[in-house]
Amino acid sequence: MPRHATPRRYLMCPPAHFKVTYSINPWMDPAKPVDVSVAVAQWEDLRERYRSLGHTVEELTPRPGLPDMVFAANGATVIDGRVLGARFAHRERSAEAAAHLDWFRTHGFAAGDVREPDHINEGEGDFAVTASYVLAGRGFRASPLSHGEAQEFFGRPVIGLDLVDPRYYHLDTALAVLDDAGDEVMYYPGAFSPGSRAVLRRLFPDALIAGERDAAALGLNAVSDGRHVLLPQAALGLFEPLRRRGFEPVGMDLGELLKGGGSVKCCTQELRC
Ligand code: ARG
Repeated sequence: MPRHATPRRYLMCPPAHFKVTYSINPWMDPAKPVDVSVAVAQWEDLRERYRSLGHTVEELTPRPGLPDMVFAANGATVIDGRVLGARFAHRERSAEAAAHLDWFRTHGFAAGDVREPDHINEGEGDFAVTASYVLAGRGFRASPLSHGEAQEFFGRPVIGLDLVDPRYYHLDTALAVLDDAGDEVMYYPGAFSPGSRAVLRRLFPDALIAGERDAAALGLNAVSDGRHVLLPQAALGLFEPLRRRGFEPVGMDLGELLKGGGSVKCCTQELRC
């Protein structure tokens, strides 16, 4: 059964100042060189792919000294036009939060709809939105207290999930929402605690289960518009299972950004307005 894409609005930030000068996740090795021009070309490919699929991409101006700002998903979570800002776990990224809040305040979001959070959360890095729930990772970055804050702010049930493998330090490295008009997800069970795995099985008995190789290619760091699933091209094992479910996998090469520990989803914040 072919799937239906719905037009999306995304916020992205060009990797003009992308570098790996510190290491806050196991993917980051400051000794490995990064080629900014390659990163920019790969990022532009992703942006143009969204546009060619009919989606709107807004751009946040990159700031010098914030090399991880390209990972725009971490700057906020937007649901029903309401914005929960971020509060970063590591000081290296903390100034990104204000850059995002400024953007929302100057782009038509009412002050009352934009919240500066009390508790640590890294935006859509740890919050994933399905039709029924907000799934929320914890263990490495988001504070469990941010889950209650998000539930109160958005008025949607927040389901806390414990991440246990440092390679999958954000929820969006281990789980992707495939259909947010329903509750369809794909995930890598090995990234979660036994209890959280049981929760995922109960909520999503038909989920697409990813294997270790595809997870290690950051294949779960994917963005779906309901039909097209943009994901790291190296996650080959996910393509056929996605097709069998009626999705159209679109492989992207974001190899340079992978050196920062992020891929498609990390570069893409969805503005659900
Ligand atoms: N270097 C960044 C960090 O460790 C990568 C963030 C990736 N973003 C994501 N949504 N998983 O914070």
